[in-house]
Amino acid sequence: MGVVEEIKQRIDIVEVISDYLPLQKAGRLFRSLCPFHPEKHPSFYVFPEHQSWHCFGACGTGGDVFSFVMKKENVDFGEALRLLAGRANVPIVLKQESDQEAERLRQMNELAAEYYYHLLLHSSAAEIVRSYLAKRGISSNAVEQFQLGFSPDSWEALREYLIHKGYEESELVASGLVIGKEHGGSYDRFRHRLMFPIRDVKGRVLGFGARALDDSLPKFINSPQTIMFDKGSLLYGIDLAKAGIKRQDLAIVVEGYIDVIIAHQYGFDNVVASMGTSLTEKQVGMLAKLTKNLTLALDADTAGEVAMLRGQGVIAQTFGRPMSVSGWTDVKYENLYNAKWRVAVLPQGKDPDEIIKESTEQWQQLLEQATPVVDYVFDIVASKLDLSKLNDKSSAVDQLLPVINEIKDPVYQAHYLQKLARLVEVEERTLAAALPRRRLSQPKQGEGKEALSTLMPFSSLPLEEYCLSLLLHYPQLHCQAGELSADYFMHPAYRQLFLAWCSAPQPESLGEDIAPALREHLQLLMSKIPPPLGEEEVGQALGDCIHRLREHYLRDLKIKEWLLISEAQSKGDTAEVEELQQLGVRLNTQLKQIFLKQRRGALG
Ligand code: UTP
Ligand code: MN
Repeated sequence: MGVVEEIKQRIDIVEVISDYLPLQKAGRLFRSLCPFHPEKHPSFYVFPEHQSWHCFGACGTGGDVFSFVMKKENVDFGEALRLLAGRANVPIVLKQESDQEAERLRQMNELAAEYYYHLLLHSSAAEIVRSYLAKRGISSNAVEQFQLGFSPDSWEALREYLIHKGYEESELVASGLVIGKEHGGSYDRFRHRLMFPIRDVKGRVLGFGARALDDSLPKFINSPQTIMFDKGSLLYGIDLAKAGIKRQDLAIVVEGYIDVIIAHQYGFDNVVASMGTSLTEKQVGMLAKLTKNLTLALDADTAGEVAMLRGQGVIAQTFGRPMSVSGWTDVKYENLYNAKWRVAVLPQGKDPDEIIKESTEQWQQLLEQATPVVDYVFDIVASKLDLSKLNDKSSAVDQLLPVINEIKDPVYQAHYLQKLARLVEVEERTLAAALPRRRLSQPKQGEGKEALSTLMPFSSLPLEEYCLSLLLHYPQLHCQAGELSADYFMHPAYRQLFLAWCSAPQPESLGEDIAPALREHLQLLMSKIPPPLGEEEVGQALGDCIHRLREHYLRDLKIKEWLLISEAQSKGDTAEVEELQQLGVRLNTQLKQIFLKQRRGALG
């Protein structure tokens, strides 16, 4: 549960609002003169069952406890969060503080990179690394570009350097550069190693990879997970490869640090490394912002390991599950199983760095001959089976049909169905008939939840997220978004993000403008990759969102209005019943108009 939800569960909106206004009980509801506009007759209502409020008078606004506090105290979402968290006794990490802390940790890593680099160039003890680099064919240019370094054979060289620079013992440990001892004191984590600073997309050092200089083990040591270093959300070389990836509209993913360095040295400047593990959702998200075309260079061993997995598992393990984010139910594996994602299997026992040094033509050729993901899965499955045997044919169908089932594009799907039919020598029709049945009989993990969200188009949160992600990824929607009201967003953070977006639709400027507490939400929404839509489709998607949000909003109002009328009727206050009924008629007309528009849209 998120902090917002937790706070809402622990506090009562009636209690909070009573601190500001004299609330008068009206049946199951509470009412008061609206604090947001001058009025003589109370039209401000609080709905305890919904934990919401609404003014049916001139201002016509409403929302939850967060939006009330924001409006009444005239504070931003972060401040309201702080106030209400204090009241609800829900601990929150203050983003500002953690931002500051992260900034200091980052500076330490930056200093360490400079320190290691300086030693590599100038220390006599670093002769061993310099000759190692020469042996591996790494140029001095590349050393500079990647700011490679040398960590000396010492327990405290870096530790003392950083203490001298004014950092505390506790910070040293928090940075991951130094390891704390059980009974106090600490020592350098990286000793006598070749250092690779790992940078984020903006080129900021967040951590290190460190390679042994001989065959000693462990071969690699990396920075531990810290508040800023998370290996799974970084790609080695992305800062330097970003421009190349965009220019070539293609990203090449390799496994190792040195593979990246050699690739760049030889002019392949669109290469990044996953640092030895399967690609994660976050890494894919980062690349997806730069290009849709991805080639994975797998060494024969990894490919072998991958081959141990089966069908769906191959993809899930190799690529993560990038598209299964709720709200984007219609994309799922679509991007995964398209022809734009390819796999290049390298010759046995060779890493990209060796291949490139041997022959750039061979490397180029390997990339050009890379196999589309689905064909690759076919190859793996087929290589494990003897397709002259009936049993193995059935096994191939079992493994490949679910994969084919996931392909959204009908042309691709037909193509692979044909391919499978040929492979197992079964009529295509027979296989096609098996498709939908399998889908039903083999629900995948998490699918139940997604199905639910498509059944409930009004479930407001996913829809709000969907809508905002759309806006964030397509700033050009700005002119069309005028039809959208902030009131349609029930989630207080989303409401404020929307308002912020209205005044600064470009993600870069938006990120700088908003309160720190909103940044997390922004990042989360930015990480949701919208389906690749054309100009017109984007407009339609937004139009659809607006309709659904408005419809949802009006329905919500309608429920509140019913509640009001029934309460008024039970008290026999005819004047009020009349007033509310008039209001009901207005709402009703609005609802009807929207339904009509929608139906016309669906028909046309
Ligand atoms: P490899 O073991 O294949 O090393 O790990 P490599 O890159 O080919 O190294 P060289 O060529 O022997 O120098 C591939 C990558 O996996 C990550 C590193 O990023 C490494 O470059 N890795 C591997 C780790 O982070 N930790 C490990 O313990 C092993
Ligand atoms: Mn290697």
